[in-house]
Amino acid sequence: MAEQYVAAVDQGTNSTRCILFDRRGRLVSVAQREHRQIFPKPGWVEHDAAEIWRNVTRVVPAAIRQIGAEPSQIVAIGITNQRETSLLWDRRTGQPIGHAVVWQDTRTDRLVQELAGDEGTDRFADLCGLPLTTYFSAPRLRWMLDHTPGLRARADRGEVLFGTMESWLIWNFTGGPDGGLHATDVTNASRTMLMNIETLEWDDQLLAAFDVPRSVLPEIRPSSGVFATATMVLPGVRIGAALGDQQAALFGQTCFSPGEAKCTYGTGSFLLLHTGKEIVRSTHGMLTTVAYQIGSEPAAYALEGSMAVTGSLVQWFRDGLGLIHTAAEIETLARTVEDNGGAYIVPAFSGLFAPHWRSEARGVIAGLTSYITKGHLARAVLEATGFQTLEVVDAMNADSGIALKALKVDGGMTANNLLMQFLADLLDVPVVRPMVTETVSLGAAYAAGLAVGYWPDLEGLRSNWHRAGQWLPHMDPDRRATEYANWQAAVQRTFGWIR
Ligand code: G3P
Repeated sequence: MAEQYVAAVDQGTNSTRCILFDRRGRLVSVAQREHRQIFPKPGWVEHDAAEIWRNVTRVVPAAIRQIGAEPSQIVAIGITNQRETSLLWDRRTGQPIGHAVVWQDTRTDRLVQELAGDEGTDRFADLCGLPLTTYFSAPRLRWMLDHTPGLRARADRGEVLFGTMESWLIWNFTGGPDGGLHATDVTNASRTMLMNIETLEWDDQLLAAFDVPRSVLPEIRPSSGVFATATMVLPGVRIGAALGDQQAALFGQTCFSPGEAKCTYGTGSFLLLHTGKEIVRSTHGMLTTVAYQIGSEPAAYALEGSMAVTGSLVQWFRDGLGLIHTAAEIETLARTVEDNGGAYIVPAFSGLFAPHWRSEARGVIAGLTSYITKGHLARAVLEATGFQTLEVVDAMNADSGIALKALKVDGGMTANNLLMQFLADLLDVPVVRPMVTETVSLGAAYAAGLAVGYWPDLEGLRSNWHRAGQWLPHMDPDRRATEYANWQAAVQRTFGWIR
């Protein structure tokens, strides 16, 4: 019999990819297409959802063709996605209404301040586990309904559908206007601020507070479980899973037990700690979120530390400043100098996320002297990711009461050895990278494969995890303390920015 595969579709912030995995969890094929980043105004970030769906229809067949396979060899589709990016579309025509508003977009900062009012940013934390910031979907959805003429009336008449990117993909995979399924999963729903974190259902109090009509919302499903059978792109193949990309990475790193954690280094970086069936409420700026739900089992929860700008700072250094030609060159440039020369870059481009949650913060470069070269700035760019991770790990340790013993990492930036060594030095724990670093796609494939019986259970998946790299800490403790204090002083300068 011909080999069978699971197809993971990862709809990310910068690109859409299809990766095929075999039964041993090995990556056998990858196809990828980037989409446009649309910046209409400072702080605004948009995507064209039609372009994204077109990319899906191209990368899936391309990944299958690449290894000379047939679509019939695909046993399931696992969808994973950039979270919180919000879209409305017309139920009848299937056309997006305007662009998707991306998770990094800060246009709702005033609205968020108004909603916080005297009660503060934790106003809804008990209900949804999240602070009020520009990051999550609900303020964005409210903004779209308020700023598109006639849209609210159309929404009230049931003509308009809302979704994050997995909902858009599921709906299109299942026929769009011709009977498409309008669904999301618990992990993505847990990032909207509209789902009750305990009941895992849309919450009337939250819908009322954000003035969102229930008619626009998708049905909430478990992350691993058959959603429907695709009729487009891969007709006849079951969609076995959908989950947010960071939760997918936790799954792909096989962090199935409480206390296990991973950090994925991409456009932004996201550290998730599995907290089991318990809902842990953070008092140090971490998010309470759903890790995954397998079929009818109770959901597993996680604490998350989100860093908005890490890999995208390297992109800005390349595209915005033009100081390097390729992202990989940053390591070579950083190695031309011994240290950061006293310079620190705090990339508060979308405000500051965890553990600060300051939507009004804006980026700074601190410690400039005429001694500073582009080599020092390259180092400061990479070190910004290390310092942000340290802030998150400190907060996570304080919340959980248990110090992290090692950090499992994955994502594109883990190819940067200088950064990985700096991370180990700063965190003072080993940093460990698995053989398959495409853990986002792997997690989506695992969740889909479990749903259709391609893989029998979680234990089997664990045995696929193999260590490929490890960095051990060497930094002198005094130097670590000084560097961290300098970083924290620079962070203070990003607050209260006047525009
Ligand atoms: O919460 C945002 C996150 O899901 C985006 O991930 O990897 O597409 O930048 P990424």
